[in-house]
Amino acid sequence: MSLLSAHGGAGDPGELMIAPSPISCAPALGRALGVELRIKRDDLLPIAGGGNKARKAVRIMQRASAQGCNAVVTTGGVQSNHARAVALMAAQRGWRCRLILHGDEARGRSPQGNLLLMHLANASTCIVPAEEVAARLDLAMADLLSEGYRPSLIPGGGHTTEGALAYVDAAAELVDQCGGLGWMPATVVLASGTGTTQAGLVAGLQRAGADCQVIGVSIARKNPRGADIVQAAYEDVCRDIGIRPEPERIVFLDDWVGEGYEHADRDVLATIANAIAVEGLILDPTYTGKAFRALPDMIASGRIAGGTRVLFWHTGGIFNLMASEYWSGAAGL
Ligand SMILES: Cc1ncc(COP(=O)(O)O)c(C=O)c1O
Repeated sequence: MSLLSAHGGAGDPGELMIAPSPISCAPALGRALGVELRIKRDDLLPIAGGGNKARKAVRIMQRASAQGCNAVVTTGGVQSNHARAVALMAAQRGWRCRLILHGDEARGRSPQGNLLLMHLANASTCIVPAEEVAARLDLAMADLLSEGYRPSLIPGGGHTTEGALAYVDAAAELVDQCGGLGWMPATVVLASGTGTTQAGLVAGLQRAGADCQVIGVSIARKNPRGADIVQAAYEDVCRDIGIRPEPERIVFLDDWVGEGYEHADRDVLATIANAIAVEGLILDPTYTGKAFRALPDMIASGRIAGGTRVLFWHTGGIFNLMASEYWSGAAGL
């Protein structure tokens, strides 16, 4: 199944028909971990800078297009991959894009990484305290309406049914690819935040009858709240695709959150440096580095059995790495 279906409405970029994201081998990292490791490369998706947020945004923007929208409003952190993907796709369509970002205002003065791309895409951005986001989103929508636009309000992180459905499709894509390879993972591991990526994947694999466990590694939220949110998204998407939610399908572990969102400890930084050095595999400090950091612990504890087939779902994040200041002055890492 292809990621995108061809369509060609007014203002539509006709971006479409992209092959599935590749699955790569990672023999050196796999050997060191003591498992058969392969990597699903959503970081390499050839649209809007790639990553899971681009895959989700494709479907979200298609829906907005079908509803006749010509502007978007959304929110996220200053280095949000979701906001970057939406900004780039809006630019591609010639749509207005208003981004209400939360975080450290000082980071707006010398934009890097995702924020730089949002600016270059001509999105209008403002950085506000988190508690002001809701009111500012309403204001941005009202402004665009009064200017004669038809705006769509996209929840932060692309946390929508469309976002989850994008990963139901991605699960089918994986099952197809694995059939071709004659290699089915026993375990899929991914970085999980708002949880729609994980929810869609779990529902999609369940629908496909794939016998593998999915482990979401929290990058920010602690349990029980984190797992409850993923569970709710899973139940929603199951309803949407007409399957029955099953107990204990959602595994959302919060053991590697550390000091929270956008904070990486030395182990995460060492994980990133090692993956690049031994396999040329680029991870990031906010998302994939944390999820990959969890692998050796989960194998040591037996949660993932040694010698089994493990698929690390790479959700992107290169721009988070490029914007990070962890390595400035730390050449010895
Ligand atoms: C690179 C990357 N990986 C994983 C995630 C988590 O995705 P989700 O919010 O769908 O759980 C995010 C969310 O921002 C992300 O940017």
